[in-house]
Amino acid sequence: MAAEPVNLNEFQELARLALPKMYYDFYAGGAEDEHTLKENVEAFHRITFRPRILVDVSRIDLSTTILDYKISAPIIIAPTALHKLANPEGEVATARAAASCNTIMVLSFTSSSSIEEVAASSNAVRFYQLYVFKKRDITATLVQRAERNGFKALVLTADTPRLGRREADIKNKMITPPLKNLEGLLSTKVSSDTGSNFEADANETMDASLSWKDLEWLRSITNLPILIKGILTREDAIKAVEVGVAGIIVSNHGARQLDYSPATISALEEVVHAVKGRVPILMDGGVRRGTDVFKALALGAQAVLIGRPVVYGLAAKGEYGVRRVIEMLKDEFELTMALTGCPSVKHITRKHVRTEQERIH
Ligand code: FNR
Repeated sequence: MAAEPVNLNEFQELARLALPKMYYDFYAGGAEDEHTLKENVEAFHRITFRPRILVDVSRIDLSTTILDYKISAPIIIAPTALHKLANPEGEVATARAAASCNTIMVLSFTSSSSIEEVAASSNAVRFYQLYVFKKRDITATLVQRAERNGFKALVLTADTPRLGRREADIKNKMITPPLKNLEGLLSTKVSSDTGSNFEADANETMDASLSWKDLEWLRSITNLPILIKGILTREDAIKAVEVGVAGIIVSNHGARQLDYSPATISALEEVVHAVKGRVPILMDGGVRRGTDVFKALALGAQAVLIGRPVVYGLAAKGEYGVRRVIEMLKDEFELTMALTGCPSVKHITRKHVRTEQERIH
């Protein structure tokens, strides 16, 4: 039995030891120079606190509400692909951990457990992440299956007209196992002798013509609220509000798409100012500490999503590992609230943090 980690970063090393190199690299890697991958984490380090003292923090309430669903803390599971590469129970284990932590799981379109298996495994509130395929009827079928199986919202990932260049996967000739939800729906399997199968498959199937007007199509095939994931600019935030999305996720896809995109924590405020409270804003990318969760909330996010740490927890210790990752982050967040003088998430304000620019002026 591996040692008990004391923070999220220690799960990464356990995952590295537990996984074949090809799979570890797939989870850990980012696009090209991995500049944004590092920045996603380091930009959090450049934000400091303005803690308030002598506030009664004898009771702390971490809970929050996202699209009318009350969850135990503003920490949600991001959609990440292929959990069975980390653990044979795959997304079913992740969903059970989400349920026992009373949080939301966003199931990836490229999951290795089926929509139905995940739905049957727990009573977690689940959202379904969507990619839109050239064959629109495949996407429509999956939307209907998610809706029928009690998923509460759709998360349209809009930053992936093509797959980013992940050089570790190219070197490893990353092979994607068949995707459970697409069984019987996709006729051909693309293969690449020279690089990553994952990339070749994605580029063959993904609809690069997807544009804002297609939100209307998506709304015509579902009654579920739609969140849009992958927004990094005020211009796109305003468009998203105009087309009637139920929420925005500020994200650079865990730095796996466009390298030299800004760190998401640096892009968050621009989006928050543009949206002016009209829809909830969530963010993901580089959240590794409870202090990071606090910083994102102080800068205007309603909740954060975590990607890699969940997969590392799953790889290291299965369902228990995912639960520990969420619990640790919650414990750290609670401590941060106590030490900054915030008895509930409503008490967290912009004045509790100081960004690098503010220090210079
Ligand atoms: C992802 N991400 C992702 N996003 C999405 O919308 N659909 C997907 O299938 C995947 N798959 C995926 C696989 C792996 C291995 C990773 C690491 C990421 C992006 C994910 O939802 C999220 O935006 C980032 O993971 C957040 O960054 P951190 O927490 O990993 O730093």
